[in-house]
Amino acid sequence: MENRGSFGSKLGVILATAGSAVGLGNVWRFPYMTGQNGGAAFILIYLVCIFMLGIPGMVGEFIIGRHSAANAARSYHNLSNGKPWGILGVMGVVTSMIILGFYAVVAGWCLQYLYASLLGGIHGDVSYVKQYFVEFSSDPIKPTFWTIAFILITHCVVVKGVRNGIEKASKILMPMLFVLLIVLVISSCSLPGAFKGIEFLLKPDFSKVDENVMLEALGQAFFSLSLGTACLCTYASYFSRQTNLLKSATQIALIDTIIAIMAGLMIFPAAFSVGVNPDSGPSLIFITLPNVFQQAFGSMPVVGYVISVLFYALLVLAALTSTISMHEIGTAMFYEELKVTRKKGAWVETITCCIIGIFCSLSCGAMPELSLFHLNFLDFCDHLTSQLFMPLGSFATCIFLGWYVPKKVVSDEFTNWGTLKGSLFGVYLFMVRIVCPLCILTIFLHQLGVF
Ligand code: TRP
Repeated sequence: MENRGSFGSKLGVILATAGSAVGLGNVWRFPYMTGQNGGAAFILIYLVCIFMLGIPGMVGEFIIGRHSAANAARSYHNLSNGKPWGILGVMGVVTSMIILGFYAVVAGWCLQYLYASLLGGIHGDVSYVKQYFVEFSSDPIKPTFWTIAFILITHCVVVKGVRNGIEKASKILMPMLFVLLIVLVISSCSLPGAFKGIEFLLKPDFSKVDENVMLEALGQAFFSLSLGTACLCTYASYFSRQTNLLKSATQIALIDTIIAIMAGLMIFPAAFSVGVNPDSGPSLIFITLPNVFQQAFGSMPVVGYVISVLFYALLVLAALTSTISMHEIGTAMFYEELKVTRKKGAWVETITCCIIGIFCSLSCGAMPELSLFHLNFLDFCDHLTSQLFMPLGSFATCIFLGWYVPKKVVSDEFTNWGTLKGSLFGVYLFMVRIVCPLCILTIFLHQLGVF
């Protein structure tokens, strides 16, 4: 059996795990959800969710993963004392494969837009830009080609291993992503009339806040931190015994939040500057923004060209660091459990995810009959994972860790075997045992329509 590998440095741990957290969830989903749910007030609730529920959840997955130093299925199994908790790890792997399938479709659209921007951009009036998106996404070949391409790029990083593949890629991609984001935030905020966008992000309007907004914020927080699919558990299995779990979780959550807010500062000032409504939903970055680029930089076509190339490059980088983490969850399980090489394990993951991705891509227009419960297959996969599997996975993980795993294991991992003070341990235990499961159960029941 191959050596499993581990992250080589503290910086590697932070950048790789932050790479998993930072993704289309920050740059695409967070801005449109903020736009639809009332701006700053949504962000405040989101912050409460990240810090009160997200961080304890992250530490929980870290504890399970680092304790066993094995893939997700085995990590849960090792702590379950003969009970079938190992299923939770397997469920995490299945969930992450489905997520990778549809996430790669959206990431593939970003690749196409990057390519189109490099060739000169998408020029025309508002209805042309919309038609461009509809025609492209319902083409049978192009989006499917980009989806497979994206999964194959991810495959190439993951097969190289933890230190030479994942850690190295994160150390290059994350700083690039940050620099691109800063350039784009500055250009967006310096447009005339940008102030209104900044105000929208920073001035809370609590009149829009209802129970639904709170639940949306919680769901977004979980998706953005990659919680509930054994992703963090898999990465933690490569942490060293010196890694301070609570501190790392806090740092990663901070980086993730800062990047999401910066993404807002990139999108809203530009949108407000040209008078575009920011609440257009998921199509914001594919339909609204190409128009914004054209109008905002209409008198400076070269600047507009550079900005749109940088923007779609940013999306591709962000998506890639996330797809790498999703891919690794399955790869680690397949090669360790099937006792094959890492390369073969990675191929099992790649081929399965390509098949899911092809169905998701075709369901967006080329083959509309690929639908379930009145949703196209891509939306079905998205709903199934983010509204059912992810909350269920994180709920069960809290119960497992809080009530079944021996307290000694939890406290040893939390305090690095007594070498850290661990003064927050009592609070932590209270959060994972009671507060987190209750809150997650509330969203879950709400989504099932119980109240
Ligand atoms: N957190 C990522 C984002 O914000 C998405 C992501 C990466 C993810 N890995 C995951 C989501 C594992 C669920 C499970 O885009």
